[in-house]
Amino acid sequence: MSERKRGKNVENINTIRWIVDNDVNKSQLEEAAQWLRRNEVVAFPTETVYGLGGNALSDEAVEKIFAAKGRPADNPLIVHIADTSQLDSLVRSVPEKARKLIDVFWPGPLTIVLPSGQAVANKVTAGLSTVAVRFPHHPVAKALIEQSGLPIAAPSANRSGRPSPTSAAHVAQDLSGRIAGIVDGGETGIGVESTVIDCSGDNVMILRPGGVTRAEIESVVGPVAGEQAIGSIDAPKSPGMKYRHYSPNAELKLVKGSSAFLQSLVDNERSKGKKVGVLTTEEHLMDYQADAVISCGSRSDLYTIAHRLYRTLREFDELNIQIIYSEVFPEAGVGEAIMNRLGKSAGGCVLQE
Ligand code: TXA
Ligand code: MG
Repeated sequence: MSERKRGKNVENINTIRWIVDNDVNKSQLEEAAQWLRRNEVVAFPTETVYGLGGNALSDEAVEKIFAAKGRPADNPLIVHIADTSQLDSLVRSVPEKARKLIDVFWPGPLTIVLPSGQAVANKVTAGLSTVAVRFPHHPVAKALIEQSGLPIAAPSANRSGRPSPTSAAHVAQDLSGRIAGIVDGGETGIGVESTVIDCSGDNVMILRPGGVTRAEIESVVGPVAGEQAIGSIDAPKSPGMKYRHYSPNAELKLVKGSSAFLQSLVDNERSKGKKVGVLTTEEHLMDYQADAVISCGSRSDLYTIAHRLYRTLREFDELNIQIIYSEVFPEAGVGEAIMNRLGKSAGGCVLQE
């Protein structure tokens, strides 16, 4: 039996890379789709971040996803589809509010948690009675799912705990040698993950802010409850929320205050010999002196910041930065997702002037 088949030794796999563009045709994806049908795992681009896909109907495939990422088994996966008709076999019912959200936001960066049906592999839902489903609009993701003929379970294609990948190079950094292949469709657009919304019970609730904003959702279904605070209850509804996440190797600290205050924190650590980075925006790029000062976008358009956020965190690692001080952003619109990710990445550390 080959290393690939044995599954245990996940580090000796020869990872294939397929380069495709957005007018991808199905023949370009045939090989990747074949690997998926053989219950192997393949990374692919979506409009949010790269996903690590596997057959959502197969525990064998899903086990390989968990093994490649080093993901805790109690953190369930999102099932990706390329046609709403695929929902029928995956879920028991689609409540009215979910139906409205589907009509407006699919395909797109909205994941909907619904009562789980029979077909989904047990390991996908980590034993929950619900399943999270998403219909991405990225042309490569859609074409690959269609071509595989399967619902595809896919978490973000990073090693567990690391910033999510927004390019094939990031996926390779984390997972090369551990997965069958990477479909390289260039950089992803939005840059932060989908919004996860629970429509399985009476109260519609946002479990993770993301690519579709709260205001956009509320314009369709009225007011919705927010994310639960990390660790607030023993069994969080979205199990992934209890883990430290999206973290670079460097220690990240968020700073609420003036540029001068942030600079004083930098100076203090540098005087102790630490390599210090600053995560800022175009507007403040000239305000700082540190070992690395990186702008991740413009405050005038928070989508530019979302787009570059994970890439910027990885850039600090490439420069061997030990401590990153980051500016904070307004929590409105996509800013809610940006601050949620920065907050988790910093383990909740916020320094106030
Ligand atoms: O944009 C995205 O959503 C990306 C791309 C690849 O589609 N995927 C992604 O997957 O971010 P992942 O596994 O990194 O995050 C999925 C989140 C986790 O917080 C998980 O706990 C939650 O969704 N989740 C999955 N199934 C759930 C369920 N049945 N109930 C509640 N939360 C669930
Ligand atoms: Mg993830």
